[in-house]
Formats: sequence, structure tokens, C-alpha cells
Amino acid sequence: MRSEGPTVALIVAAGRGERLGGTPKQYQPLGGRALLAHSVDACLAHPGIDAVQVVIGAGQDAAYRAAIGARALPAPVIGGATRRESVRAGLAAIAPGGRVLIHDAARPFLPAAVIDRLLAALETHDGAVPVLPVADSLAHGGKAPDSTLGEAVPRAGLVRVQTPQAFGTTAIVRAHALWPAEREATDDAQVARAAGLAVATVAGDPALDKITWGTDMVAAEARLATARTTRTALGFDVHTFTAGTGIRLGGVTIPHDRALAGHSDADVALHAITDALLGTIAAGDIGSHFPPSDPRWRGADSAIFLTHARDLVAAADGRIDHIDVTIICEAPKIGPHRATIRTRIATLLQVEEARISVKATTTERLGFTGRGEGIAAQAVASVRVPETNP
Ligand code: CTP
Ligand code: MG
Repeated sequence: MRSEGPTVALIVAAGRGERLGGTPKQYQPLGGRALLAHSVDACLAHPGIDAVQVVIGAGQDAAYRAAIGARALPAPVIGGATRRESVRAGLAAIAPGGRVLIHDAARPFLPAAVIDRLLAALETHDGAVPVLPVADSLAHGGKAPDSTLGEAVPRAGLVRVQTPQAFGTTAIVRAHALWPAEREATDDAQVARAAGLAVATVAGDPALDKITWGTDMVAAEARLATARTTRTALGFDVHTFTAGTGIRLGGVTIPHDRALAGHSDADVALHAITDALLGTIAAGDIGSHFPPSDPRWRGADSAIFLTHARDLVAAADGRIDHIDVTIICEAPKIGPHRATIRTRIATLLQVEEARISVKATTTERLGFTGRGEGIAAQAVASVRVPETNP
């Protein structure tokens, strides 16, 4: 039921991935990011989720840090020997009240629409889980010594239960406390039902299927590798010089005998890149997301705008292929700062530096930039999005 307090995504990633083998699967690369990073990014980008808490296994800190990179997350919680223990450890670390979506890191493709359905169902139920119908026949497995097929299990009315599983935080914490320690549970809906909670079902998504075996990993790579199309978009911005002693440009501070005027920190380069990124997913422009009339953005660090655009691109399952920005001014000279700016933009966008190009030019003393009245910047962003995107 609806409760005050934050909505937290609790992502359990403390398993050892023994059936897949090698590095625990949640830290293995998938489409250029760690498997874990996919569901983390989906949760960070969802407007209904306030915080993301990851549970990792003992000794997995280095792998976790490599997987999460610069993403701003609270310190991970150390899980236990079973999934249920890991969930319990995670629940103990999150804010009481509110709502929690408990999710397997091993399910990297997390559609925003499923989160929407779960949160809507929580308005009227104690819990909600995504389910899919069972298509294949079901039977007990082959018995040794000759692997003869066992009794059929009628599949009518049966469903496959996925994660995330959403609950009122207080209710699921209490349910876990009631569950007998010696008994195993493969998911939290079982624990919730045993405690008498009413768990709604919402439509799941085949994309949410769990990565368990090596073949699942190959299929997941194939899903990402196929059917992508490149979208290219332009961004442009201008800011006027005013009295001052330095400017923000490309996310770095550059000493200068002038400053740039603007509602935010007037970083023309980051503004142009932000607009270019928004253009690749046809998500409006910087002004529609951060209206200059809103006092919250007065003097704001434009990194906020850029990382918002980055998160929207990630939510659309877009991959930043390349950014090319040209800064147009007579002064200051950009050359000495070019490498720092490039590193800063790559860090903010969480991409390799090789994907970022920073250029500068003058306009031969012609026009407003030539007269030293301001700085202009142009950016081109290339983003690969799924072809299935409308
Ligand atoms: N999990 C966990 N703590 C455990 C066991 C599992 O947090 N002690 C997590 C896994 O990291 C995964 C999810 O629970 O995100 C589902 O578990 P499963 O698919 O079984 O993953 P593993 O246990 O890692 O894999 P395996 O069973 O093949 O070893
Ligand atoms: Mg397991």
C-alpha cells in the first residue's frame, strides 16, 4: 500500500555465478558495460526511483568499483551465502518506510514500463511482481539411470515470476524476519506471501529473463549487438562576456580577464553537447529540461545538465558513440586546456576519451566572437539506439 518515504531499488549482486563460470556474471562485460551497470543505470534513470542500493559478495569490492565507475551510489552492502540472506542484508541498510524494488543484477535489461506497472500496482497491493505465462510443457525431470521423463505438471494457470519485485519496505522487512532461517526461498514474493501479504501480478517482459548459463550471455550480447541505428544531432550555444576573472568551459575553470554571463555557470561547450545529446533521442532541448526561469539553476554547474542528458540517453538504451565539440572564440586560448576538457567530458559521460573530440577556432576577428563579445560552441553527438525505438 502507498506509504511515505523513498522508493529504493535494491539490486542483489552477491552471487558467485557458478553456473555461468568465470568472473561472477554481474561483473562480466555486456555491451561495453558490466552486467550490473545495466540494471543500475535503468534504475538511476527512472523518475520513480529515488535511490539505488547494491548488495555485493564479500571480496567483490574491486569488481564492484570497476563495474560502477563514476556512478554516484551509496557504499555497497555485503550480502550472504544465499540470495535470501543477501536481500535481508540489503533491506537492513535501506531507509525504513517507503517502497523497495528488489532486483537481480543477473537481469540486465530492465524496461522502464515494468517499473511503472509495479509502482502502479503497489498503490493498491502490499507487493507486486512481473510475471509471464509458461509456453512450454512442464514435467518432472528425467530420473537416473536412464533419464526417463517424469510426470507432467499441468501448466494452466502457472506463471514465470521475474524481478524487480516491489513491496512496502516495512512489510517486506517484517516478512523476511518471519521466514524460517533454515528454509530457502528463490524470490521475495514467496517470503511476502508466507507472511500474508497480497502480491499483485503485472505483465513481465521477456527481456527481463535471468542470465544463468553461458548461452544466456551470448544471447544478451546478440540482443545488444543487433538492430542498432545511429542518430546524429547538433547542439549550438552562445554566451556573452561580462566583467570577471574566469570562465567555465567544457566543465573546467579557465582563468580569463572576462567572465561569461548566463543563468547557470554559462558553460557554452557543455550546453552545446547537452543539446546535441538530447537531439539524438528527440528529447527536447536544455531549456525544456532546465528552464532559465527556474531559480534552482541559477549559477548551476552545467555538469548537472550534461549528466541528465547522459542518463536520458542511457534510459533510451542509447550508446554514445562520439562527441565532437568546437569552441569558437578569439580568447582565451583553448589549446592549453583541451586535454583537461576532453578528460572532464569523458568522465561526465562515462565513455572512453577516444570518443570525445574537442576543437577550437577563431572567426578571424569577424562577427561577435571575432569582436570578443562572447563565446559560441557547436557540438555533434552520435548515439546508437535500438532500431525498435519509435
Ligand atoms: N545473489 C546474491 N547473493 C547470493 C546468491 C545470489 O545476491 N548469495 C544474487 C545474484 O548475484 C543474482 C541473483 O541473486 O543477481 C539471482 O541469483 P542467481 O541467478 O542464482 O545468481 P548466482 O547465485 O550468482 O549464480 P549461480 O546460482 O549460477 O551460482
Ligand atoms: Mg544462485
